[in-house]
Amino acid sequence: MKQYKIAVVGATGMVGRKFLQVLEERKLPVSEYYLFASARTAGTKLPFMGKEYEIRELTETAFDGLGVDIALFSAGGSTSEKFAPIVAASGAVVIDNSSQWRMDPDVPLVVPEVNPEAISGYKKKGIIANPNCSTIQAMVPLKPLSDRYGLKRVIYSTYQAVSGAGMGGFNDLKNGLKGEPPHKFPHPIADNCLPHIDVFLENGYTKEEEKMINETRKILGLPDLRVTATTVRVPVFYGHSESINVELNSPYELEDVRKLWENTPGLIVRDDPKNNVYPLALTAADTDPVYVGRLRRDFSADNALNFWCVADNIRKGAATNAVQIAEELIRQWEE
Ligand code: A2P
Repeated sequence: MKQYKIAVVGATGMVGRKFLQVLEERKLPVSEYYLFASARTAGTKLPFMGKEYEIRELTETAFDGLGVDIALFSAGGSTSEKFAPIVAASGAVVIDNSSQWRMDPDVPLVVPEVNPEAISGYKKKGIIANPNCSTIQAMVPLKPLSDRYGLKRVIYSTYQAVSGAGMGGFNDLKNGLKGEPPHKFPHPIADNCLPHIDVFLENGYTKEEEKMINETRKILGLPDLRVTATTVRVPVFYGHSESINVELNSPYELEDVRKLWENTPGLIVRDDPKNNVYPLALTAADTDPVYVGRLRRDFSADNALNFWCVADNIRKGAATNAVQIAEELIRQWEE
């Protein structure tokens, strides 16, 4: 099997460091790694794969002559906007974790368990987008429901961890618990819930809410799906929790949904409320699956279902999903 060259851009960041951990765990066929970040940390070293890797500065010529096959990006939207096309032009396929390219019709938006066939669309721009963390975890249980029953409407209410806002968000909770004022968030996050993730739009939604709505439609291939969202930052370090209400197009039995999900790759059903068993951020943290539980019929609408969905936002919501895309890309190249 060919050995590939992989670069990580934003290697010093919250998601970038998790990229490195997941790459160490999953053992891709790789001959060489290159780690990039900004001028701020260029020249510093990070332990990776049993040795010390020097951080390279991302510049317009930094990829010239390296022969990188896949570049995993998590360095913010503006860095991706500028550098993803440059790196793609150097011959690498960029797997980008920012929101910059997600809604571009020439860029596939991929959750490998859900729409792996979309990956081949990378050929247009040399870029594949990793969806928003809250969207990724919701796709894994919604896709089999969509295939079996059809989706009529989806309502998301999220409870999102501070690590989704990068190191800055993580530090606001850590320092806020000691009484220090926030720097990343507009209000203290310790002992608080902020119904505000990313910026507000003219229509009153936040950009995070808009991302969940638009990305759900794109990934499921349902451009007219009725979907709405309220996204909330909560004082949890790792693990996004979501209350999902879904109206199906046809009748369902709870036991059938449970069996369907028990046979869905990447999904774990944790649903024994009598014994206090349901998905929790604390137990999802640092693991790769998506967890669902609290399955129950919504009696207020026809064919409607409520459930609770939890995943590690930095793993399945970001790094693991991106590395799974890389694995699937390599699998398709090897075919
Ligand atoms: P650096 O550490 O050198 O600033 P987080 O989301 O946790 O804040 O991490 C952001 C990541 O993106 C960091 O690795 C950061 O590197 C990187 N980054 C930010 N701006 C740039 C840039 N212009 N070029 C390359 N990497 C960048």
